[in-house]
Amino acid sequence: MKRIGKNVFVRLFVLVLLTVSLSACANPTQQKEQSESEAWPGSAQTNVLIGRGINLGNALEAPNEGDWGVVLQESYFREIKKAGFQSVRIPIRWSAHAQSVSPYTIDPRFFDRVDWAVNQALRNDLTAIINVHHYEALYQNPQQEKERFLALWRQIASHFQKFPSRLLFEILNEPHGQLNAQLWNVLADTALKVIRRSNAHRVVIIGTANWGGLSSLDDLQLPDDSLLIFTFHYYEPFHFTHQGAEWVEGSDAWLGTTWEGSAAEKQTIRSAFDRVQTWAERHHIPVFLGEFGAYGKADMDSRVRWTSFVAREAERRGFSWAYWEFCSGFGAYDPNTNQWRPELLHALIPEN
Ligand code: BGC
Repeated sequence: MKRIGKNVFVRLFVLVLLTVSLSACANPTQQKEQSESEAWPGSAQTNVLIGRGINLGNALEAPNEGDWGVVLQESYFREIKKAGFQSVRIPIRWSAHAQSVSPYTIDPRFFDRVDWAVNQALRNDLTAIINVHHYEALYQNPQQEKERFLALWRQIASHFQKFPSRLLFEILNEPHGQLNAQLWNVLADTALKVIRRSNAHRVVIIGTANWGGLSSLDDLQLPDDSLLIFTFHYYEPFHFTHQGAEWVEGSDAWLGTTWEGSAAEKQTIRSAFDRVQTWAERHHIPVFLGEFGAYGKADMDSRVRWTSFVAREAERRGFSWAYWEFCSGFGAYDPNTNQWRPELLHALIPEN
């Protein structure tokens, strides 16, 4: 009797264990939902959680994932976490995966793939930033594409409504072309209102027109919203960071440009960042340097000097940052050997 009883108990225990682990296996990446009543962090606290980050570039913002040589792997998220990063920015070309006519439905299989990527980040304890990237038609035809852009955000925002607060939305990567600063101010404000209908508490990231750089910083009108982080991209001197870049006409002529870290070179960067800091303090908004990096055709010593200087100057001012990018042309990680490029990694994360 005693023996049988024990057996039954053991079997029951195993059964319960099995059921629990099976249900966990059914959806291994499922994250805990963030409820309305749970405390949501503000923008300053959230910016600390972005901290040091990296862009998973050339994957989901290619026309189709893989077209530009990068297919996201589970191991990438683990490696990024292990190396000491706190966040990933995941650029996404939603416009290539949605109907071109109303109601502009986003392909559910594409949503599944983005869910997978976001959940990989979150389960590795990385803050995840998703954006709208490379919406070329919107840059060319803002008035005509506006309705579709807002419909994309309506779907994205409600889809991710219950995701934890460590998922952040960035409204649009590098507005440019016909989408000038004035139109961008209106569009960003409208898009934010659409997002807020389903995500009252989530921190949203907003940047400048004219390619997301600093040239139109003073044109940006921030929406009246306390849960924003300001983002800018920094690729100066452009002739150095974009030498030999296939997508920049004439850039072959810049090959061989170095960055020595002279007093004057450093001062240019300091002055630019000081300007951002002053502007941000005036507007009471935290700052995220969302992209910076030097292309792989520049010499490694210069890249390391520049990358490390930019990252440290950002940190000194309390800016969070995300290096452009993980494993492609600017890559800090070599996807062929599955190894970090140690000099670049160390420039980004000095402890490593
Ligand atoms: C663009 C990339 C480009 C990078 C550096 C990004 O915002 O989306 O295509 O490689 O900037 O130029």
